[in-house]
Amino acid sequence: MGKKILVTSALPYANGSIHLGHVLEAIQTDTWVRFQKLVGNECYFFCADDTHGTPIMIAAKKMGKTPEELIGEVQKEHYKDLTSFYVEYDNYYTTNSEENKTYSESIYLTLKKKGHITSRNIEQSFCEHDNMFLPDRFIKGTCPKCGAKDQYGDSCEVCGTSYSPKDLKDSHCALCGNTPVLKESKHLFFKLQDFQDKLKTWMETGNRLQEGAQKKLQEWFGSGLQEWDISRDGPYFGFAIPEEENKFFYVWLDAPIGYMASSSNFFKSEQKFNEFWKDGKGEIVHFIGKDILYFHGLFWPAMLMGSGFQTPEQLNVHGFLTVNGEKMSKSRGTFINASTFIRYLDPEHFRFYMACRLGNGMEDVDISFDDFVSRVNSDLIGNLVNLVSRVSTSILDKLDRKLGSLTPEGKSLLEDLLAKEDEIKDAYQNRNYSKVMREITSLGDKVNKYVNDYAPWNLIKTDAEKAREVVTVSSNCAKILFTYLAPVTPVISDEVRKLYNLDKLDFANIRKPLENITLAPYAMLSKRVEEKNIQAMIQDTKDAYEKAQKETKLETVKTEPAKEVTESGTITIDELAKVELRVGLIREANHVEGADKLLNVKVDLGEKGIKNVFAGIKASYAPEDLIGKKVVVVANLKPRQMKFGLSEAMLLASGKDKTLSLFVPDRNAEPGDLLK
Ligand code: 2FM
Ligand code: ZN
Repeated sequence: MGKKILVTSALPYANGSIHLGHVLEAIQTDTWVRFQKLVGNECYFFCADDTHGTPIMIAAKKMGKTPEELIGEVQKEHYKDLTSFYVEYDNYYTTNSEENKTYSESIYLTLKKKGHITSRNIEQSFCEHDNMFLPDRFIKGTCPKCGAKDQYGDSCEVCGTSYSPKDLKDSHCALCGNTPVLKESKHLFFKLQDFQDKLKTWMETGNRLQEGAQKKLQEWFGSGLQEWDISRDGPYFGFAIPEEENKFFYVWLDAPIGYMASSSNFFKSEQKFNEFWKDGKGEIVHFIGKDILYFHGLFWPAMLMGSGFQTPEQLNVHGFLTVNGEKMSKSRGTFINASTFIRYLDPEHFRFYMACRLGNGMEDVDISFDDFVSRVNSDLIGNLVNLVSRVSTSILDKLDRKLGSLTPEGKSLLEDLLAKEDEIKDAYQNRNYSKVMREITSLGDKVNKYVNDYAPWNLIKTDAEKAREVVTVSSNCAKILFTYLAPVTPVISDEVRKLYNLDKLDFANIRKPLENITLAPYAMLSKRVEEKNIQAMIQDTKDAYEKAQKETKLETVKTEPAKEVTESGTITIDELAKVELRVGLIREANHVEGADKLLNVKVDLGEKGIKNVFAGIKASYAPEDLIGKKVVVVANLKPRQMKFGLSEAMLLASGKDKTLSLFVPDRNAEPGDLLK
């Protein structure tokens, strides 16, 4: 009987598009799952979108959508992108589901009942304007170490220092620009240290972790396990914590429980679910990136232990994807989205290339485009695909598309290929895909040499039956090689299967010879990569990035439009508070051709950037008098498209025509200062 295996890859966060880094993990997992299925194991592949947390809540609000609407759209897009690389999930679900809510609540309540949850008050940055606690990523300010402006609350992107948001200089809320205050509130903690011994045993038994991952976990053990803060105050998009007021589970608590929810949603039957999660009849295997090892190597197994569920059998950790030896970069055009890739290149080529690059370690995986082109064109197309295509068109047509019988020489060549079966299977099992690919390409070389030596394209003219023998041998070899390759190139392998009129191309049938059968017409298996498509893909990525940069600049900081004045002609203090008045410094001022009243000014709002404004002040100001003047600006006015261009803010003034006078702030005020 085969094994029962439940496999997952990390749940992509619903706050961004799928890029090649996600695809790398999905392909690594999918290849493994396909291999398990091909050798006859009962294997399931579950994933979902990770949907909770502040960033989603804010992003939805900015777009004028509900978080549910946003995550629904993103989930569809993620699923489409991932499956376009032929990643085949048994279920791709969402963490915002009833199942996930139920499991999250019950796991938490069990942990609480067993005394593994504690609470205390902690102080955190709070924005009084937005009326919410600010996660580190929503606080910005000047780096305390190197002085770089506009850095996030947790670390500086310029000098790389990590710090607490409290240490940031002139920290401000990234949403509204106000200075946050420190505020206390009760938080709930999971007592990770209660599981110290159990976790250590878990980590050290079985073939659970790679050496590097085990070392990293040992380091964390060495520095002592800490209690983990699992609650967030509302407003927060997530699951409310039972028996608490306005507290929600931190997104990282319910994210891995999403693995259970996705499987439960698929299995429907509790008994099937329990085989994996309760009874230990199946194995749970997670594929993750090295950045989330802490969550999967400590918190997650501890949560499962504390609530009576099975712990993972294996964590397979991979490194990051780099492009041309460097971190993926948006401005260089190497931060490539899945959807962009498939517009220019063949997703199966990416699978093939990733398999060539992937070992079972945690080191980063590089895609170098020159190498990509040469590997795909020479190893996949020139070697393996060619093996099929070179004999499957005109030569086979001349032989009525019929294979003959295998010669002793042919049988011996097949034996050479079959002799590698166990080695290839072991390499797949151990996720050493680069070894698999080396073995397969070297076998392909061998078969191509055999074909070249006999040159059936000449034989067909002189000795058709000898040509049939060669084609029979090479077709049998191709069948074996494309069975070996099937977990990596499922679509090409399936075309090969159709060519040979087979029901299945799996390991159980690998030794069954193809003799005296008629082959189907040949359909193109795969084309060479064109260098120009790579350049076009990179350019497209760069252009998209630059366009997004421009759009962000145009976007007002707060997108929520101020409410209409109420019927009685009054507005509430809250409505007034939405108007963002800032000090602006006029950098440029110009006449506008064809406009009687307008001047075009560029006003500097400090870290809010320079805004373009068309102001009706021509009657009382000459452009040259305005340059260097400080003015009062409505900074969060929605940009308006005017006849002469886009106006992104408004200057405040009183009077009319010649008596018009711009409001002037204190002369010591700095551009960008908020006025209250
Ligand atoms: O790192 C991430 O993108 C997370 N969304 C991964 C979650 S994996 C699991 F725990 F849900
Ligand atoms: Zn704020």
